[in-house]
Amino acid sequence: MINRLHQILGDKGLITDPQEMHPYLIDWRDRRKGNAVCVALPATTEEVSLTMKVAAEEGQPVFPLGGNTGLCYGGVPESQTEEKPGIVISLQRMKQIREIDAAANIVTVDAGVILADLHEKCKPHKRQFPLYLGSEGSAQIGGLISTNAGGTGVVKYGPMRDLVAGIEVVLADGRILSDLEGLKKNNTGYDLKHLFIGAEGTLGIITGAALKMHPEDTNDAHAWVSVDSPETAVRLFTEFQDKCGPYVEAFELVSGTEIDAVVRHIDRIHVPFDTVPDWSLMIELTSSDTNVDLNGVFEEILGENLENGSVLDAFIASNSQQAEQIWHVRHSVTEANKIEGMGLVHDVAVRVSKVPAFIAKAKEVTAEKFPMATPILVNHLGDGNVHYILMFPHDYWKSVEDPYALTDEVQTCVHDIAAEFNGTFSAEHGVGRKLTGELKRLSDPLRYEMMKNIKKTLDPENRMNPGVLFD
Ligand code: FAD
Ligand code: LAC
Ligand code: ZN
Repeated sequence: MINRLHQILGDKGLITDPQEMHPYLIDWRDRRKGNAVCVALPATTEEVSLTMKVAAEEGQPVFPLGGNTGLCYGGVPESQTEEKPGIVISLQRMKQIREIDAAANIVTVDAGVILADLHEKCKPHKRQFPLYLGSEGSAQIGGLISTNAGGTGVVKYGPMRDLVAGIEVVLADGRILSDLEGLKKNNTGYDLKHLFIGAEGTLGIITGAALKMHPEDTNDAHAWVSVDSPETAVRLFTEFQDKCGPYVEAFELVSGTEIDAVVRHIDRIHVPFDTVPDWSLMIELTSSDTNVDLNGVFEEILGENLENGSVLDAFIASNSQQAEQIWHVRHSVTEANKIEGMGLVHDVAVRVSKVPAFIAKAKEVTAEKFPMATPILVNHLGDGNVHYILMFPHDYWKSVEDPYALTDEVQTCVHDIAAEFNGTFSAEHGVGRKLTGELKRLSDPLRYEMMKNIKKTLDPENRMNPGVLFD
């Protein structure tokens, strides 16, 4: 098999040396390691297709890998059988921007393009691809589509699912399904692209995508606001929607415990207040209309709320450097948490209106059950998405007899509270290999059965990223 793959992929396209393979077998936080026969690095869709045909003939499982920034171990190759360890297929060499069509607002790319590079490529065309998140320097379009990622701009532009106009995907048997026309309207039956968005590599390998661009937001304003509680934050979110809904791009709520961790571990952090607020709202207003006075909008809404006591303090960025400083804090949370301790991250979502009640209940229950853990909260508040992180000190974690059992106990506890509020246990990070049990436990049984049937239809031999979504 290695010889056949070598013929297809050449020297640059195949890694078999165990040491060189190592970074492709391990998750970025070093928490889980897999195994594989080799790492394939195809340079074209054709090469992916031929590689998949070889894998099919050999009965080898296939593990797609993007930038390896996923948070649910979906990129860790763990074969279900010892005789067939499988092939990692990394798209890191597939980096072409195939076409930018400003009139249609469509950019067509190879799936290995890194998000930050795409941002740069859109700028000269006065367009943006409005997905912004902390991992954008490494995450690839294929990985972002496969996890249906969302960033801080979801309030205005939606998650990846709203930003994909079409995809090209290589199926388990090597055939290529291509839907890159990028049409705004196409009512010809099932919209198959949505099966692959959020499928986490279990149905095929995404090799290309037609993505929706938007006009550049040349006008923007940024504020960091100190509030006393999540209730006040939700009240303010409602008020911003009433008064300037279409401009609200980001509305993030971060606990003081998280800002403290960022201050401790990350360079170039500026907090514009004397003390770290208990609750920080980070708000971005944007528009492509330069005539709108967005700072004026902030001054009016925040001024009134400072007067009536709802807002404790507020900082409005007066230049792009100050704006960058605010978002540097926000986007550094995951890096800081990795250093801070053993953070058990939960990615639940409830309706925005229920966020305060969810947080109150989760804090009450976890304080009683897991008193040694500090709750750290990072919330895409505008999306009802709560990253409820329980941070255990490294030393304590080392002394835990069965860390897997404790992780499960914590997870079940937080997810059950989300379910009580009709929420989901995975808002944007996906299921991966981390939450397969939770998918089975908490899904509607009919939905779960239908998902398994789709998997069987497209991947009857269970060779596409086995162990992800379904145990
Ligand atoms: P990988 O980690 O390589 O893979 C993720 C999954 O997709 C795996 O199951 C893999 O098998 C599959 N996959 C990868 N490429 C393909 C492909 N071409 N075809 C088929 N399957 C494929 N997520 C958010 O939603 N919002 C955030 O704000 C956010 N912030 C983050 C901040 C940091 C610092 C980090 C480290 C992660 C963050 N994430 C966030 C996690 C998020 O899931 C990833 O950043 C991103 O979506 C994964 O892209 P990737 O290319 O790294 O994929
Ligand atoms: C974030 C990641 C954790 O929101 O999703 O920063
Ligand atoms: Zn997030």
